[in-house]
Amino acid sequence: NVRLVFIVCLLAARPPWPASGRAVRRKPRLLRHVTEDAGLRKEALDALIRAARRGSGRLSLRSPLRPPVSLALRDPDWEVRNKAINLLVEVTPRFGQQLSEGMAEVLPGLVACLADIKVANRRATTQCLHTYMKTMGSANTEPVLGAIIRYGLDAADPEIQRNVCVSVPVLLTPDLAGGNFSQLVAALAKCLTSKDEAMANAALHALEAIRSTLGDQLFNGYLQQLNPPLRRYYFS
Ligand SMILES: *[C@@H]1O[C@H](CO)[C@@H](O)[C@H](O)[C@H]1NC(C)=O
Repeated sequence: NVRLVFIVCLLAARPPWPASGRAVRRKPRLLRHVTEDAGLRKEALDALIRAARRGSGRLSLRSPLRPPVSLALRDPDWEVRNKAINLLVEVTPRFGQQLSEGMAEVLPGLVACLADIKVANRRATTQCLHTYMKTMGSANTEPVLGAIIRYGLDAADPEIQRNVCVSVPVLLTPDLAGGNFSQLVAALAKCLTSKDEAMANAALHALEAIRSTLGDQLFNGYLQQLNPPLRRYYFS
């Protein structure tokens, strides 16, 4: 039956729904591939990025997407981490304030990527966190700054601490100056006391960047809140 075979082939070659709808329909399977199948992980993340770019509205940071993305951010393969960061870069500007709950879960992994061995990953992560803080507004920077401190500046690994210090001047643009930088200044002042010279320099540079973003008056107010030994360190 030649005609039937022809119709079947035609249907197989051209699925009846548009491509973005297809990715959303395939989403549960793609997420399973990210979580369970190292061989299909990159391909699945690429398909999710494409779906996010096409703006298929159902691809948000709701719970099914979070655990696979958190896992992929910690993958030993830098390309997998890169795709997970880029997926977040795609979904971040689209979801505005609804995003906060979803972001909270991926922030620890994302902050660790500020210290990724690959420059491209560090840059994309900085961009993603910056976009997120801008989306949330300067009054709501606390969750991100808190994560940067907890998983970055206070991390046990000096390599992470130093790289996160380096990213601070890029993250804190003047439009975010309305935030509360009290804790961040205190955490950076602690890094300033490090015996590791590269770290102390990075912390000093970050503090100077915050000073020039906030202006002397606001910045000095934060310095006044530091305990005296830390404050002396900054001025020495
Ligand atoms: C900023 O946060 C610190 C503690 O994190 C708090 O003590 C201080 O009052 C806050 N400042 C403002 C202006 O809200």
